[in-house]
Amino acid sequence: MKILVTGGAGYIGSHTCVELLQSGHEVVVIDNFDNSSPKSIERVRKITGKNIELYEGDVRDGALLDRVFSEHAIDWVIHFAGLKAVGESCAKPIEYYGNNLYGTLVLTDRMSAHGCKKIVFSSSATVYGDPEILPLTEDCKTGGTTNPYGTSKYFQEIMLRDVYKSDGEWSVVILRYFNPVGAHESGLIGECPHGVPNNLTPYIAKVAIGELKEINVFGDDYDTHDGTGVRDYIHVTDLAKGHVAAIEKIKKYGIYTYNLGAGKGYSVLDVIHAFEKACGKKLPYSVKPRRAGDIATCYADASKAKKELGWQAELGINDMCRSLWNWQSKNPDGYED
Ligand code: NAD
Ligand code: UFG
Repeated sequence: MKILVTGGAGYIGSHTCVELLQSGHEVVVIDNFDNSSPKSIERVRKITGKNIELYEGDVRDGALLDRVFSEHAIDWVIHFAGLKAVGESCAKPIEYYGNNLYGTLVLTDRMSAHGCKKIVFSSSATVYGDPEILPLTEDCKTGGTTNPYGTSKYFQEIMLRDVYKSDGEWSVVILRYFNPVGAHESGLIGECPHGVPNNLTPYIAKVAIGELKEINVFGDDYDTHDGTGVRDYIHVTDLAKGHVAAIEKIKKYGIYTYNLGAGKGYSVLDVIHAFEKACGKKLPYSVKPRRAGDIATCYADASKAKKELGWQAELGINDMCRSLWNWQSKNPDGYED
């Protein structure tokens, strides 16, 4: 099949392009490189030995989308493009709602106009807010998000449901990612945050290469096995394969929602210790106050994806840390030379 991947140069997008190409699909990417580099696309070509048709531009540019849909018979769109930093979204809500909501609006409008009505959308476990029950299943309550980024994901899910309600000839797949980490086993592509990382594992990796002094552990008084926050970390390669499973398995019109997680919770200290094993050194950390907006524990029941898509996470926390260390040590400055 021919797949349009928006945001395909980004962290999850580039890994998904690899898995799509290796599964025999053709890939067209639109990316404005707001948070990525064209080098990731070159590296995807290097890993797979296959080509990607690249359009540099914005998903909010309807004329560009018209050109792409006229030049290619697209079977599915996988929509990653958007802004994703929780903290930044509180400072720049207009930018976040503008990019994320308007991007999805223009994209679905142009898809509809060109008769391409199959979309996989990158949602997030953040739409569940503070979980009432664990593990989280797809029918747990959503909403109660605490920042514009999370709210934009929640709104986009609602928009996509309404699109399907208005026209039953759509196939809409909402994938709720838990915590994507790690990198491709080649060490050629990986996560490349600008400045000081906000997320735990890229921060740990920067401490491990000596760029940052110590890891800040945000709170050790949660109701968890060691007092630190527990999350469901999923290897980005497993996550990427979840997208391939979705486009290959879903044959009927409808709206489908799946949790993509490993179904296991690890604490901040568990992750630090797994990373120490991967990089072969002790990593300094100190306990700091809780981070505003954080929850104690979050992990998925991913059995629906297993049952309906035949997908489940295969890689464990040690694989995640090893692959991240491989990427970080080979590319200390990310895609910068
Ligand atoms: P990323 O920032 O690495 O990738 C997003 C890509 O989209 C980047 O290449 C960026 O340049 C591009 N982009 C942004 N706005 C654009 C626009 N208007 N037009 C064209 N390109 C645009 O992020 P990621 O981690 O790969 O995340 C991909 C998607 O998954 C995002 O929608 C994100 O919200 C979602 N998600 C990510 C996580 C996570 O922890 N990484 C968790 C849950 C959901
Ligand atoms: N943490 C630290 N120190 C750090 C960074 C994080 O102790 O320097 C802790 C957090 O308090 C939390 C855990 O590590 O307990 C994970 O935090 P991350 O920032 O890595 O991830 P979050 O669970 O907060 O959020 C991530 C993405 C969101 C997404 C969510 C669910 O950033 O975009 O997963 O998919 F919505």
